[in-house]
Amino acid sequence: MNNPRHFLTLLDISPEEGASIIARGISLKAKQKNGEAHRSLAGKTMAMIFEKASTRTRVSFETGMFQLGGHALFLHSATTQLGRGEPVSDSAKVISSMVDIIMIRTFDHAMVEAFAANSSVPVINALTDLTHPCQILADVMTFVEHRGDIQGKTVAWIGDGNNMTHSWINGTVTFGFTLNIATPKDYAVDDKVLQHALSLGATINICNTPQEAASGADLVTTDVWASMGQEEEQKIREAAFKDYQVDSALMSCAKSDALFMHCLPAHRGEEVAADVIDGNQSVVWDEAENRLHAQKALVEFLMGVF
Ligand code: CP
Ligand code: NVA
Repeated sequence: MNNPRHFLTLLDISPEEGASIIARGISLKAKQKNGEAHRSLAGKTMAMIFEKASTRTRVSFETGMFQLGGHALFLHSATTQLGRGEPVSDSAKVISSMVDIIMIRTFDHAMVEAFAANSSVPVINALTDLTHPCQILADVMTFVEHRGDIQGKTVAWIGDGNNMTHSWINGTVTFGFTLNIATPKDYAVDDKVLQHALSLGATINICNTPQEAASGADLVTTDVWASMGQEEEQKIREAAFKDYQVDSALMSCAKSDALFMHCLPAHRGEEVAADVIDGNQSVVWDEAENRLHAQKALVEFLMGVF
């Protein structure tokens, strides 16, 4: 492949491509549930490079490749030469010479950019400190399944201005929803990410309170207060975020049929109350499962299957 398509942020796909990936994810889910074989990637291999922990991302990519007739290999930095300082550019050239597609979960977003720049096959960002675009594909697919088109709907983000928030911001450009964001003032989103999305026509409201953000929302979503790599800030963050828990009072500010989502893993009693995440507005289990189906569609798309 001379010019591989990469998926490092949601801005790497057009709105039309985003819509077809979601539609394909829904159709692949139906095929899987009906026991219909779909081996579009027979003989193809994915390298999965992890420098951080994961449950959903690893299980969904590895299972997805198997279901598509291919193979996935798990490479952790602790047991590869990447973890011993082999240059990213050398690793990218070597690994991409042997496999057909690569996913990377790491800390620094510049690492996936450098890897992609030296890779002869598509590279997928499976979470960096800056963004987590695969999660938004699953989240949008879940919204579409439960409520129909997300275009023109309102999503409320409550909590940390983190990699998930940045991907929701980019998602406004790809999927055309309005995003309301409420973060504590010292935990605001990256201004460059925000300004870039705004310059592309996104509708994003930075709100003063969680209640203002949730008001009239079709979907309320949040994430942990301390992300991977921020564990030592847990106590400080618990104090800073204490008014940012999504509880039933906050959910009542949203539309009565609003959905609740969380990328997981969740901390009940911190960013979300147990009765919300385990309640009837929550679709977190569908959201987690849809990582599998949406990413199968993404991998097919990047490999030119549709
Ligand atoms: N939501 C998500 O990416 O989960 P994992 O960290 O378990 O992969
Ligand atoms: N913001 C979280 C997302 C985990 C899927 C983290 O980066 O740890």
